[in-house]
Amino acid sequence: MAMIALNCPEIEVVVVDINEARINAWNSSKLPIYEPGLQEVVEKCRGKNLFFSTDVHKHIAEADIVFVSVNTPTKTSGVGAGKAADLTYWEGAARTIAAVSTSSKIIVEKSTVPVKTAEAIEKVLRRNCSDPSVHFEILSNPEFLAEGTAIEDLTMPDRVLIGGKETETGQKAIATLASVYEHWVPKDRILCTNLWSAELSKLTANAMLAQRISSMNSISALCEATGADVQQVAKSIGTDSRIGPKFLNASVGFGGSCFQKDILNLVYICDSVGLPEVAQYWQQVITMNDFQKQRFVERVISAMFNTISRKKIAVYGFAFKKDTGDTRETPAIDVCRGLMKDGANLHIYDPKVEEQQIYLDLATPKFEWDHPYARATPIAKDLIHISKDPMEAAKDAHAICVMTEWDEFKQYDFQKVYDSMVKPAFIFDGRNILDHAKLREIGFIVYALGKPLDPFLQRQYS
Ligand code: UDX
Repeated sequence: MAMIALNCPEIEVVVVDINEARINAWNSSKLPIYEPGLQEVVEKCRGKNLFFSTDVHKHIAEADIVFVSVNTPTKTSGVGAGKAADLTYWEGAARTIAAVSTSSKIIVEKSTVPVKTAEAIEKVLRRNCSDPSVHFEILSNPEFLAEGTAIEDLTMPDRVLIGGKETETGQKAIATLASVYEHWVPKDRILCTNLWSAELSKLTANAMLAQRISSMNSISALCEATGADVQQVAKSIGTDSRIGPKFLNASVGFGGSCFQKDILNLVYICDSVGLPEVAQYWQQVITMNDFQKQRFVERVISAMFNTISRKKIAVYGFAFKKDTGDTRETPAIDVCRGLMKDGANLHIYDPKVEEQQIYLDLATPKFEWDHPYARATPIAKDLIHISKDPMEAAKDAHAICVMTEWDEFKQYDFQKVYDSMVKPAFIFDGRNILDHAKLREIGFIVYALGKPLDPFLQRQYS
């Protein structure tokens, strides 16, 4: 929304939320999320044509276009638990829009939603608006930005996708929304489709991106077993223009708010429409991701003589990727839980993630994070320490596990780190970002994901 305000000075953008603390944060100098470049964009427009408000009803009533970006968490109970999207918040938003609207509006689905959500939302809108002259036209306009590069992605998107009905009013609404983006996006990058194609395209894009990572992660396991190097394999196949070089980095697992949720959603839809083979096909992307995280934990334990109980382990990075403080579905959660299960004493350091967030994540059951009132389960707090300093986290530790590819990790003085650690000192690089040859020279036992195993690891524990 900030990008619309930035590029369209004649349009007034009001971001509304019932959560007062959040709106206050958006109106302050410390925004509620960290995203490179966002602060500058917000500060440039705030108070001019960009506003943040809790007066939801007033601003919806006044708007010509309403973008709905509410949570669509995975259901945690009932039919479809662990797979289907919970549309409670979407339906609630639709009811509010219907109740306060006295003029016709374009309603834009921004949140990723299951296919055919627009149909359900339209029914809710129509049946709950008392003014028969009010017309709602629903568009699907999924967002493809990635965190950490959001401003870049929004400034120069590969494409903007707008789906609408193939009726006259539907096409008019598409043209209206397209004219907003045309302020800064070249016309040939604005794709217009029918509603269901737009909704399904978002799920498919995320599923295919995640599938590439799971494919490489499956190969990383094979590389370790055979002595091949997954980065060499990725480079070799990435030069094939049909495959392309992006999204081929094997890792400890993919995270983030979208991939798992959207694939589960896709799986659920396929099952619901009687396509179990298609559902199983996509489910395997998640299964492989879980396997990769578990495999990493097992590798740590087996390398360290099959016992990590009471051993200090430094965890470098908790965010699901670099340049963000976001921890949703970060692989670090499952890895830390796995290590804690075996009694490890974790000292976690992340340059951006707040201490309370880490405790909360480790205490929150699967799929609950996206619900506003997530239940917390008790956790063994004595096994977790949050470090403000990476050197302190590694001091007297037996091992370091790299969970996020933060650039600063590459700059550390690893000789100093090594000297402060218990020997043998292990590094488990879940992102393949460190200089492994140099680390080995220093004396570390190095596990690099998907690469030939150190003789030390091979001889005794492979
Ligand atoms: C993703 C999609 O890229 C974006 O288009 C969509 O709008 C939202 O979901 P995001 O979750 O912000 O964006 O991050 P992304 O860069 O896609 O990374 C997702 C996860 O995959 C991260 O945990 C990342 O570390 C991991 N990843 C990515 C890999 O493990 N290997 C890779 O090669 C690329």
